[in-house]
Amino acid sequence: MRILFIGDVVGSLGRETISEYVPKLKKKYRPQVTIVNGENAASGRGITEKIYKGFLQDGVDVVTLGNHAWDNRDIFEFIAEAKKLVRPANFPKGTPGVGIVYVKVNQIELAVINLQARSFMTALDDPFTKMDEILKEAKKRTAHIFVDFHGETTSEKQAMGWYLDGRVSAVVGTHTHVQTNDARILPQGTAYLTDVGMTGPYDGILGMKKEAVIEKFMTALPRRFEVVEQGRHLLSACIIELDDATGKAKSIQPIQISEDRPLME
Ligand SMILES: [Fe+2]
Repeated sequence: MRILFIGDVVGSLGRETISEYVPKLKKKYRPQVTIVNGENAASGRGITEKIYKGFLQDGVDVVTLGNHAWDNRDIFEFIAEAKKLVRPANFPKGTPGVGIVYVKVNQIELAVINLQARSFMTALDDPFTKMDEILKEAKKRTAHIFVDFHGETTSEKQAMGWYLDGRVSAVVGTHTHVQTNDARILPQGTAYLTDVGMTGPYDGILGMKKEAVIEKFMTALPRRFEVVEQGRHLLSACIIELDDATGKAKSIQPIQISEDRPLME
């Protein structure tokens, strides 16, 4: 099974990049499952039903979220019906939506799990213990398990990678919007990448207009950040190949597409 995972889609430029490149990436890499992190898709904050459905029309199979999941209130109107939308599983009991979804590829099911880290982030339930709980159930259905671990620090993400080595197929980080250069297969067969990076504006600061961010750093005064809506784009992703029999990872390859690194079709 081959999985294409595309990192944090930011604003309209990010959405346009998805529409343009998902077909091209599918043609080049032939993934059977395409997953996108969409928590910044609506002007950098949250997601709407229209955007979620747009992703599915573009050929995306599952959309994952993160700490910005609830920023656009539209989510509360459609999350219960959205069968391919997954929010961090370690939000407290009673939170709308689900933390795991399953996609079927031929006869094999892939479980897609979204989790949120806690260092420098909201204190949700412990994501490590939560994974133990989820895995008990998921393992009854499949050995093919993909985890999007949405977190700020490299250390917490590495800790999750090692904690789950051999127990899931892949642990890939999101949230920092900068792709790390550490894709590897851990010794027990789990594909790991600390952060897959973002998709959207190439000339902003994590997708935001740079002037206001620089000013904030220089003055320490509050500044309103706005998403870059025009200009050059960046796409960050990875391709993961799993062994169909065991669910263990065979390879993980990071992808970055920009004017500096054009897609070789
Ligand atoms: Fe985030």
